[in-house]
Amino acid sequence: MKHLDFYFSLEPQHARGAIPPSGCHLESSRAALPRRRLTSLPEDSEALRLLRRCLHSLGSRRWPLGGEPTDRKERQQRLGRTAEAAAGADAIVHLGALGSVPRSVSDPIASHAANATGTLMVLEAARREGAYVTAASSSSVYGSVPDLPRTEEQPTRPMSPYAASKLATEGYVLAFGSSYGMATLPFRFFNVYGPRQSAGHVYAAVIPVFIDAALRGDPLPLNGDGLQSRDFTFVDTVTWVLADAVHRKVTSDRPVNLAIGANMTLLDLIAELERLLGRELPIERRPSRVGDVRASQSKPDLLRKLFPEVPVVPFEQGLAATLEWFRSQPGYAG
Ligand SMILES: NC(=O)c1ccc[n+]([C@@H]2O[C@H](COP(=O)([O-])OP(=O)(O)OC[C@H]3O[C@@H](n4cnc5c(N)ncnc54)[C@H](O)[C@@H]3O)[C@@H](O)[C@H]2O)c1
Repeated sequence: MKHLDFYFSLEPQHARGAIPPSGCHLESSRAALPRRRLTSLPEDSEALRLLRRCLHSLGSRRWPLGGEPTDRKERQQRLGRTAEAAAGADAIVHLGALGSVPRSVSDPIASHAANATGTLMVLEAARREGAYVTAASSSSVYGSVPDLPRTEEQPTRPMSPYAASKLATEGYVLAFGSSYGMATLPFRFFNVYGPRQSAGHVYAAVIPVFIDAALRGDPLPLNGDGLQSRDFTFVDTVTWVLADAVHRKVTSDRPVNLAIGANMTLLDLIAELERLLGRELPIERRPSRVGDVRASQSKPDLLRKLFPEVPVVPFEQGLAATLEWFRSQPGYAG
C-alpha cells in the first residue's frame, strides 16, 4: 500500500477550481499511510485520525469535480484532473458528495452532478490506475420501504433526489466492479455523527444542529414531531470499517449497510442531550421536511460478516464525545 486517496466534496460551483494541494487535511486527495499503520488501527493511529478528520470535512471541502459537463472538452478536462489526482493510488475512499435531502429537493441537478457524475469520474480514474474503490452510498435509498430493520435484500424506493443520486453512486460502483473486474465495495452510510461535524450551515445534520443550539442557549429547532428515528453511527465505527476495508481490500457485489442497528428517535436524542447537560432543553417546533424518511435502522448482518470485529460505540458515549468536542470549540460556553 503506497497511500490512500480520499475524494471529498464535489461542489459544482467550485468545479473549475484548482486541484487542491496534497495532504489529507482534505483540501487534499492523498495521504501517505504506510501499511503497518493500518494493521492494528490503534486509537491514536494516523489512519484513524486522518479518516476521522476527513469524514468531518465533508461540508467545507472543495473538489474540482461535479457540474454536469455536457461539453466534451470540459468533460475531458475534468476527467483529466481527476486522473491526475488519482495517479499512483492503490485505493480510493470516495466520500465526495453533496449531502442533504433538503438541498437535493431545492437543486436536484446539482446533487445528481456531484453524486452520480462525480462518482462516475472517480471510478473512471480508478479504473485507469487499477485502484481499489470503496464509496459512500446512503441508507436514504431505502426511502419509503416500510420494513425495519433494513437489510440489503430489501427493495429501494428513493424519496428524494438525494436518495436517487446515491442509488446512482452505488449502481456505478457495482457496475464498474462487474464490467471491469475492479475490486469495489459500496457502503450505505446511515446517519454518521461525531466530533468535527459542522453545525454552521443550513444543511447541517440534526445532531450538530441540536448541540449547537443547546450550547448557545437557543431552543432546539425540531422539524416534524420528533418521532422520526435514525441509526446514528459514531464516526469512529465508520472510519474503522473504511480503513479495514482498504487494508484488506474487502469487496462486495452488493451494497453493504454501514451502521450497527440502533433505532433512536429525535426525542430520544433530545432526552440524552438533556441528561448529559443536566437541564431541560426548550424546543421550537417546525414543519416536517419534504422527502424526509420516517424511520431508518440497519440490520448489520452483512457488515458483521465482512467485518467481524467492527467496534460498536454506544450512543451515550458517542454523543458525550461529540458534545465534549463542541464545548472545546471557541464560541461555546457549555
Ligand atoms: N435521509 C437518510 O435516510 C440518510 C441516510 C443516510 C445518510 N444520510 C446523510 O445524512 C445527511 C442527513 O440525512 P438525514 O436527513 O437523515 O439527516 P438529518 O440529520 O438532516 O436529519 C435527521 C432527522 O432529523 C430531522 N430533523 C429535525 N429537525 C432538524 C433540524 N433542525 N436539522 C436537521 N434535521 C432535523 C430530519 O427531518 C430527519 O428526520 C444527508 O445529507 C445524507 O448525506 C441521510
